[in-house]
Amino acid sequence: MGTQVWKEPFGSNNGELTISGIAVSKLAKRYGTPLYVYDLSVVQKKYEMIKEALPGFDVFYSPKANPNLHIMKRLTSLGAGLEIASGGELFLARKAGVSVGDVVFVGPGKTDSELREAMIAGIYAIVVESAGELRRIEAIADELQKDVAVALRINTMQTAESAPERMVGGPSKFGFDEESVVSAVNSVPLKRTRIIGIHVYAASGVLDVGELLSHFKRTLELAVRLSKEIGFALRFIDFGGGFGVPYTEEQNELDLKAYAAAVQEIVAEESKRTDLSGVRLAFELGRYLVAESGVYLTRVVDVKQSRGKTFIITDGGINHFMRPAFVNAKHHAVIATDLDGTGTVATVGGPLCTPIDVLVQELDVGSVEPGDLVAVFDTGAYGYSMSMLYFLSHSLPAEVVIDRGLPVLARRRGGLEDALIHQVNY
Ligand SMILES: Cc1ncc(COP(=O)(O)O)c(C=O)c1O
Repeated sequence: MGTQVWKEPFGSNNGELTISGIAVSKLAKRYGTPLYVYDLSVVQKKYEMIKEALPGFDVFYSPKANPNLHIMKRLTSLGAGLEIASGGELFLARKAGVSVGDVVFVGPGKTDSELREAMIAGIYAIVVESAGELRRIEAIADELQKDVAVALRINTMQTAESAPERMVGGPSKFGFDEESVVSAVNSVPLKRTRIIGIHVYAASGVLDVGELLSHFKRTLELAVRLSKEIGFALRFIDFGGGFGVPYTEEQNELDLKAYAAAVQEIVAEESKRTDLSGVRLAFELGRYLVAESGVYLTRVVDVKQSRGKTFIITDGGINHFMRPAFVNAKHHAVIATDLDGTGTVATVGGPLCTPIDVLVQELDVGSVEPGDLVAVFDTGAYGYSMSMLYFLSHSLPAEVVIDRGLPVLARRRGGLEDALIHQVNY
């Protein structure tokens, strides 16, 4: 394995993976395995890159990608807002200390009590997903005697063809269909609810600048058109985001500079026709900001041969990092304690009793032994919180952040009692 496949803060020393100069075996010894490690310098760098490229835009971090409070606090302290998607995320947003004026609440199936909490908190806007939800928002605002700002989530007709996960373009549980949004909204009498703009989240994991740009242009034009057709003062456009990261060597990084330059041109062009000076323009990003900060570290428990194939069995698997099985994602991985080893193609699987518990299908390794460490890269997004942590009653893994080069425990390792969480009357 060459050492050139990763970037700062990842490196190597004597054939071992380092993170901000710290050997992973040290982290594993101190905090145990399986272990998530997030380097906050990566999160900060990605946020600053976006802000530098798109200075006129607000960035809302989507904690669904990683709700670790160290990450949320770092981003909000740098100026990011939050795009929350549940009452639990509102609770975390409060813990992160974000200003409520920088919080939007997006997502289908918001309950009355979640909507009420958000309105009492006074968040910037609720992104409304349907006429039914709009009606409930108006009723709760009336009950609270409080005005509320909403943005209309639109299910546009076009989608991002290349994206692995698409949220618009067909029949969808997300948002109002573009072609009928005007009549749907007009069917709901609004007194306390003020429409301030629109929201379109097209797809996740997009690396194609052209597709992102057509989405941007379409959303801007749609916002202007709908503000006229429905009759609201345009104050907010949330362009979603879905910026991808390259998970494999075949994928290229998103060309942020080219994207940002073209975005500025599109905005300048529209500004000739529409006064956008008082309009808050925003992206909501998860994966792009945090995926590359994270490494999932597991320890090799067994190495075995089966009918000509080598299997490396580790102490953690898809119970903690489900993406490989869930979305068939391929992640770059290494034997972190033997980076230079080569010559054998092995399958790396975790301890679960299912054949889908495979972290890496084919990994070129040397002479791996129990006790070695496996590192799976780009696991800072949709890792811990998207996995089936209780399956087979393994203890919950710990999370460590590297903050200015120093490791800090961010989430304690669980124990046997994890298997009992909230079980009662047995
Ligand atoms: C509405 C919405 N916003 C933001 C995100 C975050 O997406 P990503 O992590 O790809 O940036 C998602 C992801 O599914 C989403 O559905």
